[in-house]
Amino acid sequence: MRDEQLSRVLLDWYDRHARVMPWRVGPAERREGVRPDPYAVWMSEVMLQQTTVAAVRDYFHRFMARWPTVQALAAAEDGDVMAEWAGLGYYARARNLLKCARAVASEHGGRFPGTREGLLTLPGIGPYTASAIAAIAFDEPAAVVDGNVERVMARLHLVETPLPAAKPELTELTARLTPSDRPGDYAQAVMDLGATVCTPKSPACGICPWIEPCAARAEGMQATLPRKSPKKAKPTRLGYAYLARRTDGAWLLERRPDRGLLGGMLGWPGSEWNDDPAEAPPLDAKWRDVGAEVRHTFTHFHLRLALRVAEVPEGIRADRGAFVPRAEFRPAALPTVMRKAHDLAVTALD
Ligand code: ADE
Repeated sequence: MRDEQLSRVLLDWYDRHARVMPWRVGPAERREGVRPDPYAVWMSEVMLQQTTVAAVRDYFHRFMARWPTVQALAAAEDGDVMAEWAGLGYYARARNLLKCARAVASEHGGRFPGTREGLLTLPGIGPYTASAIAAIAFDEPAAVVDGNVERVMARLHLVETPLPAAKPELTELTARLTPSDRPGDYAQAVMDLGATVCTPKSPACGICPWIEPCAARAEGMQATLPRKSPKKAKPTRLGYAYLARRTDGAWLLERRPDRGLLGGMLGWPGSEWNDDPAEAPPLDAKWRDVGAEVRHTFTHFHLRLALRVAEVPEGIRADRGAFVPRAEFRPAALPTVMRKAHDLAVTALD
């Protein structure tokens, strides 16, 4: 099949099967001239990096309800945005989200640049996000390549080179197929195909619009592609976290430095995380061992966090962090690892 025919077949499939998403202008509305809001497209694409559609939905609705425009987000308090992002992970995205909103508001009059090249000048917008926004919001025929698209292209064209080495080739193949008519719908069609039909383990080839031209299918190799180079095993690090609750219900929390893991997020004061951490309590108290540890996996390591809890009197001074009054404390504003620690500590203290 010629490239134009391939993209036409997929667009026809998308017209019938496009998933409904809160940030998406579907093909029928699109035909009636409805344009996607670049702010909503940008927000969804940043949230969807490393995260599933199911996990993003509620966050997307909350962010759009609280900050409906890029100007509103640009004027938000850092801590409010970090708290709203809590639980989504990869917190550098939230810090960059704010930086980007402020750049759009102050340097671009509140309008996102309308080209891939212009979008790339913004903080936190890399090649993938720039292509996705340019295609979806501005109908620029940019090649949009995420994990789903890599899988679909590797199978359609029977690319046996393992990832990540195959990335340039898969990007080139994606670019060749991207049509100048409806490139935004096309990009989302490939993503939807990868998410619903051309799935990692048992692709549903029987209902695939590309069954006939699929080179991997012809060889019976679809489920083995894309190949992946073996990943390095993750090391395990150890640490201590200290959860101090005052008799009036206030908790001792510390904001983490902006740079680095969980940067800018609230958390429990703790030790370093390494092979053999030294205890590092933030105040003098009768610390109790909770007897259970929190296990959490980050991108590059597993963490086992031993918990120390203490009930402390009002008026006590801490070396680090600040007491957050009971009325202002929301466990949901903590990153997942810190919220897990809270839930265990509460059980131990009550
Ligand atoms: N994943 C990332 N962006 C997406 C989009 N616009 N539609 C479907 N899945 C996606």
